[in-house]
Amino acid sequence: MGYARVRAVGLVGLEGHAVTVEAHVAAGLPALVLSGLPDTSLNEARDRVRAAIVNAGEKWPQRRITINLLPAELPKRGSGFDLALAVVILAGTGMLNLGGLGGAALIGELGLDGQVRPVRGVLPMVLAAAQSGVRRIIVPAENAAEASLVPGVQVRAAATLRQVIEFVRASVPLPDPPTVSDIEDAAGPDLSDVLGQERGRFALELAAAGQHHLALFGPPGAGKTMLAQRLPSILPPLDDAAALEVTAVHSIAGALPPVPQLIRRPPFQAPHHTASGPALVGGGTGLARPGSLSLAHLGVLFLDEAPHFGVSVLNALRQPLEDGWVTVARSQGCTRFPARIQLVLAANPCACGTGNDVSCTCSSVARRTYLNRLSGPLMDRIDLQVTLKPVGAAALLGQPDSQESSAQVLQRVIAARQAAAERWAGQEYSVNARATGAVLRCPPFRLPRVATAELAKRLDRGTLSARGYDRVLRVAWTIVDLDGRITPDKDDVSEALDLRMGEAA
Ligand SMILES: Nc1ncnc2c1ncn2[C@@H]1O[C@H](COP(=O)(O)OP(=O)(O)O)[C@@H](O)[C@H]1O
Ligand SMILES: [Mg+2]
Ligand SMILES: [Zn+2]
Repeated sequence: MGYARVRAVGLVGLEGHAVTVEAHVAAGLPALVLSGLPDTSLNEARDRVRAAIVNAGEKWPQRRITINLLPAELPKRGSGFDLALAVVILAGTGMLNLGGLGGAALIGELGLDGQVRPVRGVLPMVLAAAQSGVRRIIVPAENAAEASLVPGVQVRAAATLRQVIEFVRASVPLPDPPTVSDIEDAAGPDLSDVLGQERGRFALELAAAGQHHLALFGPPGAGKTMLAQRLPSILPPLDDAAALEVTAVHSIAGALPPVPQLIRRPPFQAPHHTASGPALVGGGTGLARPGSLSLAHLGVLFLDEAPHFGVSVLNALRQPLEDGWVTVARSQGCTRFPARIQLVLAANPCACGTGNDVSCTCSSVARRTYLNRLSGPLMDRIDLQVTLKPVGAAALLGQPDSQESSAQVLQRVIAARQAAAERWAGQEYSVNARATGAVLRCPPFRLPRVATAELAKRLDRGTLSARGYDRVLRVAWTIVDLDGRITPDKDDVSEALDLRMGEAA
């Protein structure tokens, strides 16, 4: 007869939840019964835990053991409960006294040999444990550095079940986590590499300052990919809360380096157009894995050669662009991952890839069909749509050091973000890309009639949609924010109009 309980942590999407694992041990035919809505992976846990206990040198109790995981309604996925199960079984049968655990929560998968194996999502799990009042936590040795990114929790690293047993039974100390260096993220490519291309650089700076989605059109070799890759280098670094959130998503994806640090640089994801649906959106069995859309959360999702992406992928972008979440539907139910992304698209003018009017012999219908794959609701959300010309010889042969660096541009971007944040202080957003049409078109932010006369004319003629009208206004505000002025005038509006493909003509 016996009863014991330990603390563990479960994950649903990005959210960790405190879980209590309790064991009730009774006389009767030897059996191990798991309840509390465990999924199939928990049944596999039964075999791992039994083998690990035996191979850790303990006797498997010949009793009837009932294990319950609370709260019952929480879906429990993945293998991270193994360690808690093993410890609670030993405690419930009187083989361990949990006083030595000191209230520590337990996370870890067990190998059949009794090793404690790493799991995905340790960062969000430890965050949740800390929020629920846990002050000590034992995690797989390989995840210990990651766990120690969470402030206010004492982390202990376990390499084997035997170590944990010795710790609880005889206070043999468990190792500290390795110290996490606070070195800067490796600097990505720098804007100083981009020669000429003033228009493209300006569009990129506007995108960074206003957090506008950006589409770059132009012939191959114009520098579209080059520019897009440099967007993160001119985005403000993530603050503490954002850095934890982004690092947590990468933790669940198993995408952190062995000695991780908080991700401070907005992420950049550039999935290939042949990538599978789950790779982009997320999915998989057991603990769902976030895809590129979520790995780009609070950073940049770059779709190079965008028209090559399947319609289903382009459609899958709509919900994240709308509400910042992506829903992963699986046989075991839906999971949600955050995906507040800044979208950058690049496209050649034609599928043949030659790109200039001289060598492309495709029909005009074929060319239009190609770009039309991007049309509709998706393009409606892209404030900046610019066409780049091939970079001229003069620029390529010019002074290599004459270009501004990313650090210089970033200073202007940060100042512009500040100005916008002050203006939108009463709103639920702080960047121009999220300003709503209603706010832009009404006092106090309605622009004087002379500034918007041209837009009104186009609206009447039907050459500008109502949504297009709002997009031009948003960009006009970003132009003045970057320039350190107060209100857009006629020239700013016409410049913003120029930064829209189709409307420029
Ligand atoms: N503006 C530029 N400044 C310097 N190099 C450039 C520029 N544009 C293109 N290049 C060179 O051409 C290569 C191809 O550019 P890329 O960005 O891939 O073009 P795109 O994506 O438009 O086809 C780059 O790797 C770079 O070496
Ligand atoms: Mg390219
Ligand atoms: Zn062509």
